Amino acid sequence: MSGEHERARGGGMPATVIVGLQWGDEGKGKATDFLSEQVRWVVRYQGGDNAGHTIMLGPEVFKLHLVPSGVLYPHIVPLIGPGVVVNPMTLIAELDGLAERGVDTSRVRVSHAAHVIMPYHVAEDRASEARLGGAGIGTTRRGIGPAYADRALRVGLRMEDLLDARALRAKLERLVPDKNARLVRLGSEGAPLAVDALVESALGWGERLRGQIADTTTLVQDALRAGDHVLFEGAQGTLLDLDHGSYPYVTSSNPVAGGACTGGGVGPLQVTAVIGIMKAYTTRVGAGPYPTELTDEIGEGIATRGHEYGTTTGRRRRVGWFDAVPLRYAVDVNSVSSIILNKLDILSGIDSIRLCVAYEIDGRRVERWPASGEEVARAVPIYETFPGWSEEIHTARTPGDLPPNARSYVAALASLAGVPITLVSVGPERTQTVTFDSRPLAAGR
Ligand code: IMP
Repeated sequence: MSGEHERARGGGMPATVIVGLQWGDEGKGKATDFLSEQVRWVVRYQGGDNAGHTIMLGPEVFKLHLVPSGVLYPHIVPLIGPGVVVNPMTLIAELDGLAERGVDTSRVRVSHAAHVIMPYHVAEDRASEARLGGAGIGTTRRGIGPAYADRALRVGLRMEDLLDARALRAKLERLVPDKNARLVRLGSEGAPLAVDALVESALGWGERLRGQIADTTTLVQDALRAGDHVLFEGAQGTLLDLDHGSYPYVTSSNPVAGGACTGGGVGPLQVTAVIGIMKAYTTRVGAGPYPTELTDEIGEGIATRGHEYGTTTGRRRRVGWFDAVPLRYAVDVNSVSSIILNKLDILSGIDSIRLCVAYEIDGRRVERWPASGEEVARAVPIYETFPGWSEEIHTARTPGDLPPNARSYVAALASLAGVPITLVSVGPERTQTVTFDSRPLAAGR
């Protein structure tokens, strides 16, 4: 068990954030699952149904987009915080799907202040991506950006509005004509949206979710006061962060650990551990600069072995070597206390493994993550090469079970990160995990 786990059990470190250190899809679902025995609450704090968490429980595979993965454990209360944008149709479908498989979803609570993704947001996302063609962001087309834009413009609907027929109608009567005009301008070919139909659908969602809409911030604060361990589960990753990623090729929320404060309802000084999750290589979905991208057969092999296809969109993820330049940035900006490394097993069989330690940009060696996406686009990776290993490592459970070359690679990553790697995942099952390092948190982290 790592330091975090021990402290969590002792009640001394009750608020842990799990954050992706790359472009999402780092395997946060498995990490949450692994920690679930020690936590009582799991809180989603940003994003929406653009996310996809895959959890394997024995032979069963669960793919969740919105409901926190803690739902699979009867002792956990799953919360959807105010920083999440909620498509009620997805939420209801997911709750129904889980219930059909015998999972009790009655504990799930969604913040009254979470914004609602309405059908016009999905239409706007689709139309604007279609209009931009190849110059688009490559969004998941789930209406995420438009819903967050309306939130910032203060014209969005919140979950609480689904329970108030009069307020709901008044807001939609003001908003829908503008939305229809905007959709026409964007070239959307769908029929104009009708206020009556939207009101009827939205009230139906409210009726279905009435018992589950709550003040989740108060629930979080009461839980912390009671000494319960609360886990804040980030979606996407640091490099897709609206402020810290390679803008504009980012999502419209803050996946970084600080997002747990604003979107989950916890104060910065209440957060006691930040666990960064990363894969032994990188992937990226959608457009945007990607210095270590592999477009050859090695990349193809990693994508196939690693099942690198989007949980939400089914798109083949772009694949590349590990990049330590954004890693250092991600460790700092999230104040990462320890790291879980996933999918080390996928690199088995590669003769020599490359690891990007710096960039060359306009003839200069650069070790810091460039502030501008354009600079990232001009970056040429500077690699260190590590000898690979040929054997499968799925059955490794201790560092000594790993081939020496795999251990050296993990050690190099930990040293570049500057924080301990505590767990290394060598397969999708919960048990396929190597406990690597249980050193206490480094001072100052
Ligand atoms: P949006 O979040 O749908 O607006 O998409 C913005 C960018 O974030 C696109 O490049 C998406 O591919 C990417 N993205 C959004 N959610 C995820 C995720 O869960 N995993 C990986 N990439 C994501």
